[in-house]
Amino acid sequence: MSKLLVTGGAGFIGSNFVHHIVDHTDHHVTVLDKLTYAGNRASLAGLPDDRVEFVRGDITDAPLVDELFARADAVVHYAAESHNDNSLNDPRPFLDTNIIGTYTLLEAARKYDRRLHHISTDEVYGDLELDDPARFTESTPYNPSSPYSSTKAGSDLLVRAWVRSFGVRATISNCSNNYGPYQHVEKFIPRQITNVLRGVRPKLYGSGENVRDWIHADDHSSAVLTILEKGRIGETYLIGADGEKDNKTVVELILSLMGQDRDAYDHVTDRAGHDLRYAIDSSKLRDELGWVPQFQDFTSGLAATIDWYRANEPWWAPAKDGVEAFYATKGQ
Ligand code: NAD
Ligand code: DAU
Repeated sequence: MSKLLVTGGAGFIGSNFVHHIVDHTDHHVTVLDKLTYAGNRASLAGLPDDRVEFVRGDITDAPLVDELFARADAVVHYAAESHNDNSLNDPRPFLDTNIIGTYTLLEAARKYDRRLHHISTDEVYGDLELDDPARFTESTPYNPSSPYSSTKAGSDLLVRAWVRSFGVRATISNCSNNYGPYQHVEKFIPRQITNVLRGVRPKLYGSGENVRDWIHADDHSSAVLTILEKGRIGETYLIGADGEKDNKTVVELILSLMGQDRDAYDHVTDRAGHDLRYAIDSSKLRDELGWVPQFQDFTSGLAATIDWYRANEPWWAPAKDGVEAFYATKGQ
């Protein structure tokens, strides 16, 4: 497993994973990334050239994918269209990348007999009621809500079929909401932090009672590395760090950490079909593979994330105006 191919390695979680691999292993990484609006080469700045190679390309490009699989020992597949709000506006790229892209990688994994780890989301399970004592487990039935989550569910099912039908050596992980450095300003936490940095009030969809189960991106990376090293082929592992918080609480915490009044935010138009609550039971990953998250304190992880955005305006500023102009057209 010394040569890793990482798809989507210039995105939020993929770039955090590449940093994690360079810091904690001696593996070589080749990043395959299309550099859509969500990809940013600057997220890989400073990494050593002899450890990280960057290839700009599309995961639906089968000849390119073949060439890169032929020289990799294992593949970690992060590349995706990842934002629910965009999928409500224009679902087509989600079908192309999340479904056809994953299919293209599976065919290459089959052809070259390469180990593949597929990154997925807890959203494939739909949502939970606020007062439901249950959390998602590996046996929760699939019930996705949005065009985004339905294409992720479809990609998971393709992976399962390629394992069973063709013997592809793959694993799947479904993780909860990530936060940390290098996250695009379209997403909830960076949007609110950068709003405050610009003197704009944070925007809360609907009532703000929706719950997300937050995990630091570096904990997601350590979990994926653990599965790559010790996971059983054909298995699915849920990744989560017991971080349930409602959106209102998160906005108030951001405001208070940034020295603002806790109620200095606006309620805006709700997301269509907005999932109410996600919650992960990660016992299988912890008990079977011994994984333990390191970022147990959300407040200090969030404070460090705020510091990162404060210190890295050149990284996020070019995308900010376009994102806000898009949200304005939706009353958000
Ligand atoms: P992101 O949008 O920040 O990054 C996606 C990356 O994929 C970008 O660099 C983009 O350029 C690249 N990409 C898109 N289409 C491509 C294509 N056709 N070919 C090659 N590269 C392409 O996404 P993220 O938040 O980092 O999510 C990464 C993965 O993790 C996704 O599969 C997502 O479903 C999953 N996930 C995300 C979260 C979360 O909280 N963000 C939680 C669980 C799972
Ligand atoms: O659960 C994992 C998923 O988490 C991943 O699969 C997705 O790729 C990732 O984008 C994320 O999906 P969400 O839709 O939960 O994340 P988002 O950051 O878009 O929104 C988080 C919550 O905050 C959600 O309840 C909607 C709300 N929200 C979002 C924005 C952008 C707001 O209230 N205001 C906002 O401005």
